[in-house]
Amino acid sequence: MPWETHLLDKSIACEVVGLQLWEPVDDRTIDELRALWARHPVLVFRRQALSEDELADFSARFGSLERVVRTDWASPVRPEVGVISNLKDGKGKPIGGLGDGEIQWHSDQSYMLYPATGAMLYALELPPEGGTTSWVDLSAAYEGLPDRLKRAVEGCRAIFDYAKRLAGYQGVDRVISEEAKRKTPPILHPLVHTHPVTGRKALYLDSTTTIGIEGMDERSGSALLEEIYKHATQPEFVYRHHWQVGDALLWDNGFTMHRREPFDPSARRLMKRTTMFLSRERHIVPEGSLVAAT
Ligand code: SIN
Repeated sequence: MPWETHLLDKSIACEVVGLQLWEPVDDRTIDELRALWARHPVLVFRRQALSEDELADFSARFGSLERVVRTDWASPVRPEVGVISNLKDGKGKPIGGLGDGEIQWHSDQSYMLYPATGAMLYALELPPEGGTTSWVDLSAAYEGLPDRLKRAVEGCRAIFDYAKRLAGYQGVDRVISEEAKRKTPPILHPLVHTHPVTGRKALYLDSTTTIGIEGMDERSGSALLEEIYKHATQPEFVYRHHWQVGDALLWDNGFTMHRREPFDPSARRLMKRTTMFLSRERHIVPEGSLVAAT
């Protein structure tokens, strides 16, 4: 299947044109996509028409699929697929998660000891305005840090806590099962990583879960994090994606964060998402430690 690529914005996002992901994709193409993905953390495939099985099966070519702790957002048909939507069923129960509000800069799974850092999001229904998603390139952000901040973050580990993210959610999304609580204790991840393919250093951040820095008092840790987030989310490091129905985006949470803008609650938005464990040979995959164990 012939295909080509177009850079969408600096180097962070790259559009892949010519692949129909509902058709079999050969191993060679998957290898080429893997190599492309190592360099461009956001790959955009437009004009797709995917069933849940097709979305999950294509995603699984990049790593085994994770069933995320939000089992309440899982598709009843294919549980590895998460439903991201503000829609409700006939009884007024949300059919998925994340509603219509703003979602601040975050990295999926940062609160897990072994984060599954690959993600794919597929757009089925979109609001006329808002609901735009942006990604920030944390390699470029690292490289742009003043030397003073590079020195300050070197060797640091941040504390990532899912309880902070939950507090920022709307309504029922704030409630998780006892099992999900047990799986998400506060953990530590290094703030700086090196990409195994490109050799570039990158920050690892999530403004919705970091609550401090190991070994620093609360005020100094928060002040340093604040400064890093302010620097990292400057427009020069950001790709803003204007969704079209049929877009499927693959991204690497190992060296990006993303945020979603809010949209009109009376509009309809329906997205489906998969989450993959990526290989350490090709991707930044942070390895966490329990806060309590240190
Ligand atoms: C997410 O943060 O994973 C969802 C992003 C979106 O709804 O655009």
